[in-house]
Amino acid sequence: MNPALEDLFSFLRFASVSTDSNRAMDVRACADWLCAKLRAMKLDVELHETPRHPVVVARNAHVAGRRTVMIYGHYDVQPVDPLDLWHSDPFQPEIRDGRIWARGATDNKGQMLAHVLGVEEILRTQGELPVNLIFLFEGEEEIGSPNLAAFLTENRDALRCDVIAISDTGMVAPGVPTLGYGLRGITCCEAILRGPKGDLHSGLFGGAVANPAAAIARLVASLHHADGRIAIDGFYDDVRTLENWEREMWSRVPGVADSDFLKVTGSPGLFGEPAYTSAERVWARPTAEVNGIGGGYQGEGSKTVLPAAAFVKLSFRLVPDQDPANIMHKVKQHLESHCPPGVNIEITHGHDGKPYITDPHSRFGKAAQAALRAAFNAEPVLIREGGSIPIVQTFRDILGVDTLLLGLALPDAQIHAPNENFPVENFEAGIRLNQALLKELGKD
Ligand code: BES
Ligand code: MN
Repeated sequence: MNPALEDLFSFLRFASVSTDSNRAMDVRACADWLCAKLRAMKLDVELHETPRHPVVVARNAHVAGRRTVMIYGHYDVQPVDPLDLWHSDPFQPEIRDGRIWARGATDNKGQMLAHVLGVEEILRTQGELPVNLIFLFEGEEEIGSPNLAAFLTENRDALRCDVIAISDTGMVAPGVPTLGYGLRGITCCEAILRGPKGDLHSGLFGGAVANPAAAIARLVASLHHADGRIAIDGFYDDVRTLENWEREMWSRVPGVADSDFLKVTGSPGLFGEPAYTSAERVWARPTAEVNGIGGGYQGEGSKTVLPAAAFVKLSFRLVPDQDPANIMHKVKQHLESHCPPGVNIEITHGHDGKPYITDPHSRFGKAAQAALRAAFNAEPVLIREGGSIPIVQTFRDILGVDTLLLGLALPDAQIHAPNENFPVENFEAGIRLNQALLKELGKD
């Protein structure tokens, strides 16, 4: 196997699942491996402790007058469950059909390491980089980067830079270079409805006592109108109107037709806000999503019970210029005012992330397009992303710097799901992309 793949396989073997406290040692070992890799490249490397998982920062020798580029990535991964649906061990990477199969292969270890190895190759062949480089790698992205904003504030001077680049987003189709210029934001919460003090016999009490599971179904149903629009008062107040040039441009992007959405998802049908295409719904419109719902008997057969409680986990994807705190306030008001009678509601606010949008035709945007063109030998498409990387807007708020999103994640990469994969081809393209990017960004 070539050394680049060897390195990626070593990186992928760490079960760096940030959300799982039993895996804290694996996350740490992964950070240590990364530090050793970066030190072997003769970069200045620092491992910074946080209350949870460490931040890794690495730099070349900075030269006055040169542009400073930060490359951000995350070495933590999502949990692997359900494990039995994997065709191979998520932490024993394998190559099949030209793809690397492992948790984190795409999100984000493969994409992130491509930047590291691109830099390694420039240093090996040219001795020096065309820019002042700061690598910033965190181990908490998949849990909402709870400690990174404080780290940025504390290290603002040391992290001063002109532009940030990230490969942790999508590529619309194989071989189609994709520049992201927007991300959705997010706000999450959990609601618990509590009824009787304990589970009840549904024959003795059913009909006379409110059922929390039925109540939660009503409550969840109240979030949307029948046509898919969100029914929360004021939810769309700050939504920036999708521009005609974007709609026109997106209509020519390959890989995102309704038929592609059907194929990639395996869903029997598409559904969403009227008058928007699937790509527009995902890239430029907000959502209210049920991530989990439960309560009552879940076992085999039937059980005549009236459950004491039921819960729902909700998340809302946000677009410019919606504000997560403002939306969560409206969500809480909605849930409280629509809560059916006879139950108490308890709402817990989870994590937040602001939406992001930038100009893909800015000076740096053009440099990113040129790098994508060079690495893929094809014309880049410009999209917004449906996913969230909350730290991107925080970079702008704290460091005052914009971010280029150079995505290498294919629609069928199965990120966050069983059988995550990354084409070897994309890994190699990512290494070329890094080199082209630093070259472009180093130009006057
Ligand atoms: N890399 C993804 C986000 C992503 C993937 C953006 C593909 C665009 C295209 C990232 O690791 C992620 O999953 N983020 C979470 C953020 C959340 C935990 C705050 C998300 O979007 O759910
Ligand atoms: Mn990611």
